[in-house]
Amino acid sequence: KDSSAMKLLLVLALVATALAGQRRYDGYQVFEVNAKNKVALEVLTKLYNERSDVYDFWTEPRNINRAVDIMVPPAFASTFTSLMQAFDVDYKVKIADVQSTIEEGRKDIAKPVIRKEPRLSRDGTPRYSLNWETYSDLPAIEEFLTELAAAYPNLMTHSVVGQSYEGNNMNFVKISTGGTGKKAIFVDGGIHAREWISPAYVTWLIRELVENYAAHPQYVDNIDWYIMPVINPDGYRHTFAVDGDRLWRKTRAPNAGSECIGTDMNRNFGFHWDEGGSRDQPCGGTYNGGAAFSAIESQIVRDAILSVASQSVVYLTVHSYGQYWLTPWGYTAEYPADYTQLYDLAVRAVDKLTAVYGTQYTIGTSTNVLYIASGGSDDWAKGGAGIPYSYTVELRDTGTFGFELPATEIIPNNLEMWEAFKVVAEDVMAM
Ligand code: ARG
Ligand code: ZN
Repeated sequence: KDSSAMKLLLVLALVATALAGQRRYDGYQVFEVNAKNKVALEVLTKLYNERSDVYDFWTEPRNINRAVDIMVPPAFASTFTSLMQAFDVDYKVKIADVQSTIEEGRKDIAKPVIRKEPRLSRDGTPRYSLNWETYSDLPAIEEFLTELAAAYPNLMTHSVVGQSYEGNNMNFVKISTGGTGKKAIFVDGGIHAREWISPAYVTWLIRELVENYAAHPQYVDNIDWYIMPVINPDGYRHTFAVDGDRLWRKTRAPNAGSECIGTDMNRNFGFHWDEGGSRDQPCGGTYNGGAAFSAIESQIVRDAILSVASQSVVYLTVHSYGQYWLTPWGYTAEYPADYTQLYDLAVRAVDKLTAVYGTQYTIGTSTNVLYIASGGSDDWAKGGAGIPYSYTVELRDTGTFGFELPATEIIPNNLEMWEAFKVVAEDVMAM
C-alpha cells in the first residue's frame, strides 16, 4: 500500500515538473534599501558583485543615500534582513510577492495577432497589431514593422541584419526621406529582456516618426533615423513564453562549462570591457560574456552601428527603470571631455519631458549617478564608434512597479519621452 502511494507521489511530482511552465516567484520580495554610509554601501556592492545568483538587483547599488531595489528569494529573506540590520542599512518591502505582480501583469500582454495581409481599416489606413495599450511579443512587433514599412515605403525601410543565437530576426529600421549628407540618430531598445517598456517606446517612436510624419516633417526631412527596437530578441521572447521567465535579463545562449544561460549584452560591448561592475561568472545577472562582443547579438548591433557611425551624432539606448538620462562613462568615474555639451542637451531634453506630466528624471554619468558598470553599449558607441552624444535612457517608473510597469502607463511614458527626443532632434538639425 505504502509503495503504491509512493509511486503515485512520484508520478505526480513528474507531472508537476513536466507542467512546470513559467518560472515562478512565489514569496519573492523586492526590498528598497538605502545605504547610509560607506561600509553599508560596500556590503550592497559585495552582494551585487558576488551574490547576484541569489539577489537580483533590479537597480544597481549606487552612492550613499540612494535607494536600491533588490529581489530576494523567500529562503534568503531573513539572512538578508539580518544583514541589513547588522550594517545599519535602511530597508523596506516594496513588492511583497513578485509572483502576484507577474500574474497581474499577464493581462497586459497582447493576444498574438498573426495575419497574412495587412488589415486595412475602411479609409485604407493600416490598423497595426500594436496599440500600445498592451505589451507586444516579438512576432507582433515584427508584423507591425512589416506592415508599417509596406504602407510607407518612401519613409521607412525594414530589414533584418542578422539572426540571434536562437534564430530570431535582428530587426533594423531606417526612417529617411532619402538624399545624402544628413546627420543621423541611432536608437535601440530591448537589450535587457525584462524591460518591456523599452520596445514599447521604441516601436511607438517608429510609428510617431512615420505615421505621424505630417505633424512634424522636419524631424524626418532633416535627419536619418536608424532604429533597432528589440536587440535581445531571444531574451525578450523568453520573458513572454509560457515556459519562460518574466524577469529574464540576459541573452539565451548557453555558456560552455556552466549550467547558467546568457550574457548581459550591456556588459559585453568592447570599450574598456570588464573594467568593473560586471561579472566573470556565467551565473551572474550581469555576466560580461567572457570576452568583448562574445554574444552574436552584440556583434550584430556593433556592426549595425558601425555601418552608420560616420553619419550618426546621437546614440540613444532605451532601458527601464528608474527615470534616468545617463551619459558616459559607465566604466570610470571620470567625465568625458565634452561632458558639458552632453549634460546641457540632457537637461534641456528632460525639462521638456518633465513639463508634460511632472515626471522627474535624474541626469548624470552612469558611474556617478548609478554605479560603475563597464561594457555598456553607450560607452562603446561614444568611445568605440565615435558617436558624440551617447545616452542611456531609463524609462518609468522608480520602482513602484519596476519592470511590471502597468500597460496603462505606456502611452504617457511615450508621450513625455517623445518631447525629450524632439529636443534632441532639434539639436541634431542645428549641428
Ligand atoms: N541599468 C543599466 C545597466 O545596468 C545602466 C547602464 C548605464 N551605462 C553603462 N555603461 N553603465 O546596464
Ligand atoms: Zn537595462
